[in-house]
Amino acid sequence: MTAKRILSGMQPTNQLHLGNYLGALKNWVALQDQDYECLFCVVDLHAITMPYDRDKLAQATREIAAAYIAAGIDPAKCPIFPQSAVPAHSELMWLFATMTQMGKLERMTQFKDKAGKNKERAGLGLFSYPVLMAADILLYKATHVPVGEDQKQHLELTREIAATFNARYQAGFFPQTEPMILGEATRVMSLRDGTSKMSKSAESDMSRINLTDDADTIVRKIRKAKTDPAPLGETIESLQGRPEALNLVTIYAALAGVSRAEVLAQFGGQPFSVFKPALADLAVETLSPMTGRMTDLLSDPAEIDRILASGADKARALAEPVLRDVREIMGFWRG
Ligand code: TYM
Repeated sequence: MTAKRILSGMQPTNQLHLGNYLGALKNWVALQDQDYECLFCVVDLHAITMPYDRDKLAQATREIAAAYIAAGIDPAKCPIFPQSAVPAHSELMWLFATMTQMGKLERMTQFKDKAGKNKERAGLGLFSYPVLMAADILLYKATHVPVGEDQKQHLELTREIAATFNARYQAGFFPQTEPMILGEATRVMSLRDGTSKMSKSAESDMSRINLTDDADTIVRKIRKAKTDPAPLGETIESLQGRPEALNLVTIYAALAGVSRAEVLAQFGGQPFSVFKPALADLAVETLSPMTGRMTDLLSDPAEIDRILASGADKARALAEPVLRDVREIMGFWRG
């Protein structure tokens, strides 16, 4: 086993958006060329924890895989696979469920957000979502997990579950996984409200830039993005209390691969009528080639299926021995 292994994933719910790209996918692409063995999962078992369309699930899974590849993930180097194609994820989740306190799950902000006011009616799947995520990661003994900031709490729970297993059964079996929350855009905010996260489930499509949006749509969404009347300040501190302005500067920085300070050095003092068109150009320049590649890939679904099947074979080959060890360590009968 290589010393450093990455696992990460995205849910096949709706289209991926700029937050998914800048907070996670863009970093994955950079990391695959560094000293890590990488695995990228399409977490379809997580996607069914909220109401979903059964007729669209398989295609949504292909679309996420196509987005990974279009962004630059090389499936020959990094297996891409559907979570449900490796049953060991679900089995390990059950074993971990026996070492996870309900109180900890109740404190998860994602659960609180998604369950809303009616917590009593939320499904067990939604409640236990972070336990499955811990299983996704630890099944491969992943040492590093690149994600956006919203997943930090889930990764803390993953570390706690690993520590509980190690303390109860066998010291040192699971690693203490490190979150990798990288770059300038670890939390991309809505284009309509700089205090809420850009999300797949937000009602207004104008609140996010989807990776499938065409150039005209991207330009229109950025032109209409909420801002305030003041020009951009010269320093990050000057953007305090101006969440929409800070968000657009952050997006520009992440797209251009520079720091926010560098963006402000270039645009400080300029009005949004100058900054927004520059941002729109940059977004189109970065995203349009990706959208084009995604469309090409999706025109050949059999090829994507072949990539997913081969990724699943490789993932199973890594996962099964780990699960076998866990069963043995936990004392199960073995014929
Ligand atoms: P999901 O599908 O909600 O999001 C996929 C990735 O995109 C990041 N992200 C963002 N980053 C910055 N700004 C935003 N507005 C934004 N919105 C989303 C997320 O942090 C994530 O990295 N629980 C995970 C999926 C998962 C997983 C795993 C991840 C399941 N098992 C194992 C890593 C390892 C989720 O719901 O991601």
